[in-house]
Amino acid sequence: MRRGATKQPLQQMVRETSRPGSAQGPDLSVDLAPNNPHHLRLANPVMIASGTFGYDGYGRGITEDMDLGKLGAVVPKTVTRLSREGNPEPRWYPKSFREAWDTGDLLFLNAIGLTNPGIEAALRDVTPGWDRWNATVLLSFAADSIEQFAEMAAMADQGTGFQGIELNLSCPNVADGSLFGHSATLTAQAVAAVRANTGLPILAKLAPNVPDITVIARAAVDAGADAITICNTMPAMRIDTESRQPVLGNITGGLSGPGLRPIALNLVYQASKAVAVPIIGVGGIFTGEHAAEYILAGASAVQIGSANLVGLSAPWRILSELTDWVSRSGAATVVELSGGTQPRINV
Ligand SMILES: Cc1cc2nc3c(=O)[nH]c(=O)nc-3n(C[C@H](O)[C@H](O)[C@H](O)COP(=O)(O)O)c2cc1C
Repeated sequence: MRRGATKQPLQQMVRETSRPGSAQGPDLSVDLAPNNPHHLRLANPVMIASGTFGYDGYGRGITEDMDLGKLGAVVPKTVTRLSREGNPEPRWYPKSFREAWDTGDLLFLNAIGLTNPGIEAALRDVTPGWDRWNATVLLSFAADSIEQFAEMAAMADQGTGFQGIELNLSCPNVADGSLFGHSATLTAQAVAAVRANTGLPILAKLAPNVPDITVIARAAVDAGADAITICNTMPAMRIDTESRQPVLGNITGGLSGPGLRPIALNLVYQASKAVAVPIIGVGGIFTGEHAAEYILAGASAVQIGSANLVGLSAPWRILSELTDWVSRSGAATVVELSGGTQPRINV
């Protein structure tokens, strides 16, 4: 807030657009691909982030009472061209995010290294089963080269069980994993290669550690991305001073959780002023208020990551808290609060 400015009540923040919500409550639906003939219409803006869906990234531990159809969308763990074992243990720091949350040590690190069955096995054995969730699902994939992005897009185009694609251009835990997201040229080439081989909605997931997120976001949009996801984890490490060993088997990993939130929020804010497509904010969202911050920064939707690993029911609680916030604001739709794709903060 500007020095000397007084805090505005929420109602004033949306003063130009607010209308009383309907008797059923506000309309939370969002379209993440308004310019794509397929569209990507979500019932609400709360999604599950890739790699954090259940304990294995593919939904292990999700129980019957967790109705995935009530969420905006689910992004299961990234698949690669060939299967991957992942990095040496330990892959998590601390060992349990739930324990970290309970003890107040809020620096969450992981170096899983994209453990996955490979896209062929995934499309054959895994993704067809996603239909039974009755939810909107996105296939996340990462590739080693522009040619491989093209090849995987063509394979995904024939797949079932998902309605869109999230391109992971930004994993810090595999050699060169974030290479694409660090270069506007490579980002554009990767997105264009995928766009050429599928009409499915494409979300480009970017890295936080770039000099200017607006340049990368613009490159992705100009190459045909329907939406931008910001952001992946931030390269990070910790060292045990007694053993003098890094806490992760991979030595370095990615920071997620509360420490990432203000960084990701700023990136969403910068990008939302630069591109006119929907932005999905991800990083450290543990409450409806955190999600609301991203909406006000210009995000059309949010993804819940580490909070799932503290408690798998987090997205449903966050959705309920976000719904309360939208209702309290007096806005009839969540889109009014995000300004469509522009920040709506008072400065
Ligand atoms: C254990 C773990 C595994 C992850 N795996 C992936 C992945 O496979 N693909 C991907 O795009 N992001 C992956 N991420 C990054 C998350 O999707 C998200 O971008 C990041 O954790 C920031 O959100 P958060 O602070 O809410 O966790 C992973 C994160 C964690 C914590």
